[in-house]
Amino acid sequence: MFEAIDKAKDDPILSLGIAYQQDTRANKLDLGIGVYRNEQGNTPVMKAVSVAAQRLLCAQTTQAYLGLAGNTDYNQAMLDLLLMDSPAHGRCIGIQTPGASGALRLLADLIASAKPNAKVWLSTPSYVNHQPIMQAAGLEVAFYPYFDPLTKQVDEAAMLAQISKLGPDDVLLLHGCCHNPTGADMSIEAWQQIAQLALNNGFLPFVDLAYQGFGEGIDQDIGGLRLLADNLPELLITCSNSKSFGLYRERTGIAIVIGQTLQHASNARGKLFELARRSYTMPPNWGAAIVAEILNDPLLKQQWQDELNAMSLRMRGLRQALAEEFRLQSNSDRFDYLTAHQGMFSLTGFSLAQTEQLREQYGIYIVGGGRINIAGLAKHAIPQLVNACLAVGA
Ligand SMILES: Cc1ncc(COP(=O)(O)O)c(C=O)c1O
Repeated sequence: MFEAIDKAKDDPILSLGIAYQQDTRANKLDLGIGVYRNEQGNTPVMKAVSVAAQRLLCAQTTQAYLGLAGNTDYNQAMLDLLLMDSPAHGRCIGIQTPGASGALRLLADLIASAKPNAKVWLSTPSYVNHQPIMQAAGLEVAFYPYFDPLTKQVDEAAMLAQISKLGPDDVLLLHGCCHNPTGADMSIEAWQQIAQLALNNGFLPFVDLAYQGFGEGIDQDIGGLRLLADNLPELLITCSNSKSFGLYRERTGIAIVIGQTLQHASNARGKLFELARRSYTMPPNWGAAIVAEILNDPLLKQQWQDELNAMSLRMRGLRQALAEEFRLQSNSDRFDYLTAHQGMFSLTGFSLAQTEQLREQYGIYIVGGGRINIAGLAKHAIPQLVNACLAVGA
């Protein structure tokens, strides 16, 4: 049976991680895979997460199945976190999924069953897994202009010009904040214009939120999402708890549907249950139980927010220090864009040859296409990184 299967292609990001582990050089630098790291290079368990996990472990009385919606306390807490006080709060549903990856696939399947000829529009570029997930659900994918490689910012005029042509058969996938891989976020005015265009032309926005709190703060980072939720009849949302709660391996996320009415949203939930049932049936509980415990306890929630702020401050500080070091060593301000980006990533535009040279000669691991994970840096490594980047002609 299996002789017809071709040898698997390496995943560009995961295989980079393996190559990094095998590299024996002491001063190697991993700026590849998208995980937050502290100054010591560890991806720590957040204290709020530890406290919640210990409480839950002591209070646990059963390991029986949850329902198809997963942990319902978690679902409610996440809907409250994202949509409290929005008019959409009364006509939305959320179901827990195995990570935002699971939520993306589930909502892609939902779109395909509601409107098989729908076309999903992705930013150029977008998160590496958006296109395969949408296509695996049988959906057609197209791209709208987003990142301007010259300014390293969002080309809002070109983006909006394309979006203004979308209609009722189109789904517009947007990054909630801290755009992956570019780090360039659009302005709130652009979100406003998208809301107006969606109202006028009838396309369906879909917000993928994977880095809440990594940018300006947990409320500021959902400013665009809230604008759409507050003003549009329908909206799809996926949210990941991997980064914001440091729960990468617990695979915790949520799929949210805002419908024109609560009945529409509930019907969509029924379809999501059906789709989940025939695939993974129900998500793992542990990560969701931890998130619910944190969000439902004001003190623990505050602690989580403080820790998240500290992580975001560290990334901001690294951006500042990196840009300053580039100024110093290159005698130019052409890397100042690093401080305008949000979250973990910046798309540098380094060529494939440059990223290869950085890896082979300097032990610096950067994803092909030039995405660097700022959070993978330690302050002391900045001069070394800048020196190597300039040496390869960046
Ligand atoms: C934009 C975006 N969406 C979704 C995901 C998937 O997240 P999860 O780990 O929750 O599956 C990621 C992970 O890197 C991401 O960057």
